[in-house]
Amino acid sequence: MLHQNLNTNEKGNLTICGYDTVDLAKEYGTPAYIMDEDLIRENCRIYKNALEKNFGKGSIPLYASKAFSCKRIYEIAKEEGIGCDVVSGGELYTVYKSGFDMEKVFFHGNNKTENDIEFAFDCKLGYFVVDNNEELEEINTRAQKRGITQKILLRITPGIDPHTHKAVVTGNVDSKFGSAIETGQATEIVKKALNSSNIELCGLHCHIGSQIFECDPFTDAAEIMIRFIKKLKDTLGYETKILNLGGGMGVRYIEEDPVISYEENIDKIAEKIISYAKANEIALPTILMEPGRSLVAASGLTLYTVGSVKEIPGFKKYVSIDGGMPDNPRYALYQSIYTCMIANKATEKADYVCTVAGRCCESGDLIAENTKLQSPKKGDTLAVLCTGAYNYSMASNYNKIPRPPVVMVSKNRKYVAVARETYEDLMRNDL
Ligand code: LLP
Repeated sequence: MLHQNLNTNEKGNLTICGYDTVDLAKEYGTPAYIMDEDLIRENCRIYKNALEKNFGKGSIPLYASKAFSCKRIYEIAKEEGIGCDVVSGGELYTVYKSGFDMEKVFFHGNNKTENDIEFAFDCKLGYFVVDNNEELEEINTRAQKRGITQKILLRITPGIDPHTHKAVVTGNVDSKFGSAIETGQATEIVKKALNSSNIELCGLHCHIGSQIFECDPFTDAAEIMIRFIKKLKDTLGYETKILNLGGGMGVRYIEEDPVISYEENIDKIAEKIISYAKANEIALPTILMEPGRSLVAASGLTLYTVGSVKEIPGFKKYVSIDGGMPDNPRYALYQSIYTCMIANKATEKADYVCTVAGRCCESGDLIAENTKLQSPKKGDTLAVLCTGAYNYSMASNYNKIPRPPVVMVSKNRKYVAVARETYEDLMRNDL
């Protein structure tokens, strides 16, 4: 199976964390996101232990909550002793309401609004990751008015292209994010931060992209950042205390994707970072990482019910499901490939080549093309694997379709973490 938490049982049904997915579909209805809490916790621990082992206490993962944001996930992250990154007032509000330790929250984004900044102050946010000059000035002025000193990191673009999908590449020079080292703008914004009366510059941040399986892009970025840190020390006498290397480690969506060990990757990356710091004669900063996808993607799957199976002679076969791009827009947006299977026939041969189509009034509403299923029939339960990241968080109400619930499963219990939206929910703000 694609991930360690998936299996089949004596009925030939797909199981997640030991639960029969066909039973889950019956109990909670479809479509439904199912998430394995135990696997999320295990991934949190892998990152936390590997960072601590290599870099010491204080070096923690920050969960990039854009991958999946709701109250429950912040509670889990809190219990696991990790921090988190947020990118909007809405994520900030949710993490704050969940009772998180706000000292461990980092606020990202390339265009934080004045309301975002004031709200973050109200919440006693730990750190802003400052993107640009205007934002730096805005935070400084507002911090001054409040008589506080605000801790920040500066977002720096190291000029790395990790060769992933262009929509998720963020670390190259021509990017809407951060200030580039290459153009000299990074040094300028560091100077500006150091001269800002109500700002405490605690360190630097970079993020090079997403769904990266190799270590090299991370170590290349780290090397560039460490050389920059050395330059700041030599020219400005500034000692960088925190270096946040962003997120981006890949997950297995399909069998052909490589199996990687996050622990081994962190060990390899750490070894290089430690040697670069030595070679550049700088004190090793506290290293932070911001995994999103790799903490939650594999924990999740989505269950649907098959509606129609349409064979167009000479053309394709369409299997229509009761969800689609509103709950998973990633095929429509990025042509992301998923593993699909008929959950109630999981041990049968998958040789029915078809297109899995959603229920929206739109031809592009597809979940997979040229995928192989186990002879689908109306009423079957279709599972799409590895949907724990960037599915619920990117879901919409297109065609006025309510968002599915998020059901968490663990060895000891199963429960609804986010309720299914109702038609009333859809009209809540209509005046
Ligand atoms: N930190 C920063 C500053 C980021 O921009 C991101 C992702 C992360 C951390 C987490 O990256 P991860 O570990 O999840 O790869 N919607 C796209 C993904 C966009 C990622 C944007 N930034 C998708 O569905 O693939």
